[in-house]
Amino acid sequence: MLKTLHRAFFLGLSGYVVNLSVSCIFFCLSISRFSMLSFYSLSAICHRNLKVLGLHECEVKDLSGHWISHFPDNFTSLLALNIACLGSEVSFSALERLIIRCQNLRTLRLNHAVPLEKLPNLLRRAPQLVEFGTGAFSAEIRSDVFSKLTAAFSGCKQLKGLSGLWDVVPAYLPAMYSVCSSLTSLNLSYAFIQSPDLVKLLSQCPNLRRLWVLDSIEDIGLQVLASSCKDLEELRVFPSDPFGAEPNVSLTEQGLVSVSEGCPKLHSVLYFCHQMTNAALVTIARNRPNFIRFRLCIIEPRAPDYVTLEPLDTGFGAIVENCKELRRLSLSGLLTDRVFEYIGKHAKKIEMLSIAFAGDSDLGLHHVLSGCDSLHKLEIRDCPFGDKALLANASKLETMRSLWMSSCAVTFRACKLLGQKLPRLNVEVIDERGPPESRPESCPVERLYIYRTVAGPRFDTPGFVWTMEDNAACPRS
Ligand SMILES: *[C@@H]1O[C@H](CO)[C@@H](O)[C@H](O)[C@H]1NC(C)=O
Ligand SMILES: *[C@@H]1O[C@H](CO)[C@@H](O)[C@H](O)[C@H]1NC(C)=O
Ligand SMILES: *[C@@H]1O[C@H](CO)[C@@H](O)[C@H](O)[C@H]1NC(C)=O
Ligand SMILES: *[C@@H]1O[C@H](CO)[C@@H](O)[C@H](O)[C@H]1NC(C)=O
Repeated sequence: MLKTLHRAFFLGLSGYVVNLSVSCIFFCLSISRFSMLSFYSLSAICHRNLKVLGLHECEVKDLSGHWISHFPDNFTSLLALNIACLGSEVSFSALERLIIRCQNLRTLRLNHAVPLEKLPNLLRRAPQLVEFGTGAFSAEIRSDVFSKLTAAFSGCKQLKGLSGLWDVVPAYLPAMYSVCSSLTSLNLSYAFIQSPDLVKLLSQCPNLRRLWVLDSIEDIGLQVLASSCKDLEELRVFPSDPFGAEPNVSLTEQGLVSVSEGCPKLHSVLYFCHQMTNAALVTIARNRPNFIRFRLCIIEPRAPDYVTLEPLDTGFGAIVENCKELRRLSLSGLLTDRVFEYIGKHAKKIEMLSIAFAGDSDLGLHHVLSGCDSLHKLEIRDCPFGDKALLANASKLETMRSLWMSSCAVTFRACKLLGQKLPRLNVEVIDERGPPESRPESCPVERLYIYRTVAGPRFDTPGFVWTMEDNAACPRS
């Protein structure tokens, strides 16, 4: 049976398995192509020592909710259960029985199909939880439900992380205030909560180290956060309406300036917004030279400093110049080759760089490739970078893990040359218009992916991926 299971995993299941055959200590799987049968065999084999069951990136529609009842009655070893991504309902009584049995459960992440009315029962069974992902956080407002939920939360004295909170009905938020002061991580990335309610919630949580939130927090909410969260290390602000043309929330550069001033330990930021200025970036860089990760996404491509209408080169220049420990940087807004000169000169520790809609010429890419000594991963889209820098600095690619380029100006001819120059790297052209040979060699490819591997070319490429090989040096066996 173990063999069947291995086959199931290694025949095309994405996701990964660690120590499966030994003790089922830990496995993560992506079960989009997972059949019921394998799920049952899995529980049959693994139940003895299974400690962590996490379903990731799964889109499961055909799982009946009863799989969870297949864990045998004497199965008690679970430490973590994450079903947040499941689209379907699970059998609630089976879930409850499992939770009662597994008294060492520390992490429980439910999916949105678990209704709020069920949360009190589950929480009462698991007061030892350290991380809890709620299901839906909406229900008709009823005082008995509210008091049960309040009581259940106040019994969870160990709780450090809270997530989930789909479809929040704000009137229920105070039910969890009692745990807020002990929370170090709050994940509201799926919770659309208007700023005033968020402000009330966040002012209950002074010890947060990590906060993921939607832009409905607005500048005013970030200002409150800045005055109350002295320990905040990581902040992510996601767009509530990523495709909306007009921002309908008031979130600007000012919110980021506020947290950079008020949160001395902040070292990691992902921030989606609609406008930015060089002056704000310079202030942020001076306030927080301790940034390790700085990812700014100004939603409108090529947006200049909205006050001076200048490129944001000096602003990002200030970030790389002041933040000496920066490992990860994502750029956005209007940027010329100058910003890459600053990056090549100052960003000596940068490991991962994401670039979109930026630069004027090959010079930009050249600065990055010849300057950023620690670069591992580089991803570029919609930039006018072409063959010249890439071929001149090809040897740099051998020191990196991967380069991804899409909608740039690299020709098929250059890709072939790279394949010959870099026999130890996989050079893949990804082009949905058909074989690259069917177009002139000077035609830019849609996407280029170059990565280091010890396994040689892969054989599971879909039909629109072509591996550039130096056939003489690297024959296919
Ligand atoms: C649970 O019971 C089954 C069958 O009775 C047995 O094979 C298995 O070893 C038991 N597991 C544990 C953890 O006791
Ligand atoms: C936050 O929640 C989202 C949505 O459930 C999830 O994808 C993400 O991994 C969570 N992040 C953390 C740090 O828990
Ligand atoms: C913004 O738009 C979204 C989607 O249309 C809506 O749900 C939300 O209530 C709006 N937010 C504000 C603050 O008006
Ligand atoms: C990149 O190319 C330039 C121009 O040929 C060269 O001066 C520089 O040394 C190269 N850097 C690396 C890391 O290959």
